[in-house]
Amino acid sequence: AEQNRELKERILQLKKERNAIILAHYYQRDEIQDIADFRGDSFLLAQKAATTDADVIVFCGVHFMGESAKILAPNKMVLIPDERAGCPMADMVNVDGLRALKKKHPNAKVVAYINTSAEVKSETDICCTSANAIKVVESVDSDEVIWVPDKNLGDYVQKFTKKKMILWEGYCNTHDMLTVKDVAEMRAQYPNAEFVVHPECRPEVVKLGDFVGSTTGILKYCKESPCQEFIVGTEDGTGFQLRQDSPNKQFHFATKYLVCPNMKVNNLKKVAKCLETLSPQIYVPPHVADQARASLERMLLVK
Ligand code: 13P
Ligand code: SF4
Repeated sequence: AEQNRELKERILQLKKERNAIILAHYYQRDEIQDIADFRGDSFLLAQKAATTDADVIVFCGVHFMGESAKILAPNKMVLIPDERAGCPMADMVNVDGLRALKKKHPNAKVVAYINTSAEVKSETDICCTSANAIKVVESVDSDEVIWVPDKNLGDYVQKFTKKKMILWEGYCNTHDMLTVKDVAEMRAQYPNAEFVVHPECRPEVVKLGDFVGSTTGILKYCKESPCQEFIVGTEDGTGFQLRQDSPNKQFHFATKYLVCPNMKVNNLKKVAKCLETLSPQIYVPPHVADQARASLERMLLVK
């Protein structure tokens, strides 16, 4: 605790010296969410990165999120606490594979989940997050949509649109692990609880949800629901904000495996160090960034 207090003070001081802002995804460790200037899901964090007037952005999340911040704020320095924090789902699609699929479906527009590399984004028409996926798919002017990379979220979105969605075979290792059996066991143990679930989970698990939504959607639902107890089908870092919003409600994570190891790679020590050394920094080649930015900015304009 003493070491953490010193680290926090050091971070606060460095933040002032650098005119930096610390952005943290809701899946980060509590200690990081606690010191962040702004917490959010991937949509809110992208929006914040695009509009902040800080000189330096410390992005506490995974690599594609830092990249998106850099693309949206090309003149700012974007630091990440650890370069190894990647997203296995984002790594499931690459440019060559996507180009081949585009060739097979020349009339389709390409919608990319923000969980993709800058290079992949540069080959797409528009980005989305789980918070705006349905609206984004509905917004494109084609009847066919190539959807990368999350087949589970894609399957969910397909239920709300008449467009034909061509799904890439990617998935989130963390959310995809949750099973129908896990949920049934939790329901038996907590019969009064509502089950809230992220659409990155498997379709048969999503179907069981009393509420289905993005991180922000789940937070809002749990805060406003008269129910006092919830079984949570998303990453366990969300517990920080859920408990902060509703200290008297109970939150039971559906399994102890709902942990994204990449999100947990960051810690206070690494945040202090990156502010001190100004590294690692995110770099995106300008020609890639320009094309990827068009996709991200189109998403930010969807109402
Ligand atoms: P959201 O932040 O859009 O809810 O996405 C969840 C996720 O898995 C981020 O990596
Ligand atoms: Fe990627 Fe899943 Fe981790 Fe999000 S929770 S960063 S989608 S692996």
